Amino acid sequence: AETDFIGGIVTMAGCGDVFAQMGIAVHIFACNKAMTERFFYNADAEMLIVPESGRLKILTELGVIETEAGEIAVLPRGLKFRVELPDGKARGYICENYGGHFRLPDLGPIGANGLANPRDFETPVAWFEDKDGNFELTAKFGGNLWTTEIKSSPLNVVAWHGNYAPYKYDLRRFNTIGSVSFDHPDPSIYTVLTSPSPEIGVANCDFVIFPDRWLVAENTFRPPWFHRNFMSEFMGLVFGQYDAKEEGFVAGGASLHNQMSAHGPDAEAFEKASNAELKPQKLSGTLAFMFESRYIIRPTKFAMETAELQHEYFEVWQTLPKNFKM
Ligand SMILES: [Fe+2]
Repeated sequence: AETDFIGGIVTMAGCGDVFAQMGIAVHIFACNKAMTERFFYNADAEMLIVPESGRLKILTELGVIETEAGEIAVLPRGLKFRVELPDGKARGYICENYGGHFRLPDLGPIGANGLANPRDFETPVAWFEDKDGNFELTAKFGGNLWTTEIKSSPLNVVAWHGNYAPYKYDLRRFNTIGSVSFDHPDPSIYTVLTSPSPEIGVANCDFVIFPDRWLVAENTFRPPWFHRNFMSEFMGLVFGQYDAKEEGFVAGGASLHNQMSAHGPDAEAFEKASNAELKPQKLSGTLAFMFESRYIIRPTKFAMETAELQHEYFEVWQTLPKNFKM
C-alpha cells in the first residue's frame, strides 16, 4: 500500500502528558509516497527526526531540508510542512518533544567548544511554492489528528527572519569526547541536544548518540557497565553494531530500559570485553542513539503486540555467570 510520511508513523512509546506539555512520544515511520496533496503541522510538539534509511526532503514554511541517515532534522512546533521521498521510500525514528525546546547542553568543564558545535547546525533559506489544488491540511493537536481541506499550499512564506526555525545537523560532525584514561563515562557525555526539565540534572529528553569513536581506556571494562538509571532509555540503531549488544539489535530496531531496570552488555559482549587486549580500538560504521527521559516511558499496545517483539530479549543476560568470590 502507498503510505506517506504522516500515514506511515506508528507510535512505539511515550511519557509525560501532552496536555501538560511535558515528556515525549517516540515513533517509527516507514513511507513510500510523497506528500504532494497533504500538509501537516504538529501543535503538540517539536519533532526530532532521525532518518534510518532513504532520504527525506522536508519542504517547510521556512525552507527545504534534505536529510539522510547519519543526520537529524528538528522541526519546531506548529511549522507546516510536507515530505517528499527522493529515494521513493524512507524509514526512521521521530522523537516528539512536548517539553522545552531542544538546545545544546551546557558544556561545563569541557569549555567553549566540543560535542555538537553551534556552527554545524544548518537552517534553510526561504523557499515557497504558489500552488493551487484540492489539498488536505492535517494537524496534530491534543494527541489527535485533525484534517481540513485547503485550496492552496500554505508553504507560501517568501521571506522570513527570526530564530524559530527548523534545522538539520550532521551527526558525523559531532566532536565525540570520551575517556582517555580509565572507566566508561556516563553516556550523557554523548548528548547532542537536550530538552531540559524543571529539575537540574535530569532532562525531559536527552538526545544521545553513540557514533564512530576510539576506545583507549586502560585497566577498564570498556563497554557500558551493568547499571540502573535515574532516567529511562529508549534506544535505536541507525547503522552498524552497538558495542553492548553483539546480536539481535538491528538498524530500525529499538530497545527500552526504564528507570531502575538493570541492564548492561549481553553475555557475549561481556565475555569479549573482559578478555580483550586493551590496545586502542576504533569503533567505526556505527550509529546508535538514545532518547532518554526523566519520565517513565510506556510502550504502546503496538510495540507490545508486534510480531517483531523479542520475547527472549532477557536471555542475552541469562548465561552470565555469578562472578562473586569471597
Ligand atoms: Fe543504560
